[in-house]
Amino acid sequence: MQLLCSLDTLPTDTSKGFQLNDISLLAVNKHDNIHVYLNQCPHRGVPLEWQPDQFLDLDKNFIQCATHGALFRIEDGECIAGPCPGEMLTSIPTKIDQGQIWVNLPST
Ligand code: FES
Repeated sequence: MQLLCSLDTLPTDTSKGFQLNDISLLAVNKHDNIHVYLNQCPHRGVPLEWQPDQFLDLDKNFIQCATHGALFRIEDGECIAGPCPGEMLTSIPTKIDQGQIWVNLPST
């Protein structure tokens, strides 16, 4: 596994973008549960954020694609509204250990 960041740099109800081994990732802390996905919309394959580290909708209930507004559940990355319903963000396995977030990146 690879170190992503310290848990305290990702407060609850925030999101953050990362570049690790040339792979673009996003991480969301929802109620102190950490979810990490590839930063790639399943609709067109583009990055999701509308500004750096801004991946959530206004109510912070969903991950929202900036391009066409698809909404993805934070918990499992499934698209529930927009142009690609039922499609999934690619989930990245994570582990929290001693206050650090670790990720298991896909092999390239
Ligand atoms: S590229 Fe994300 S909704 Fe179209």
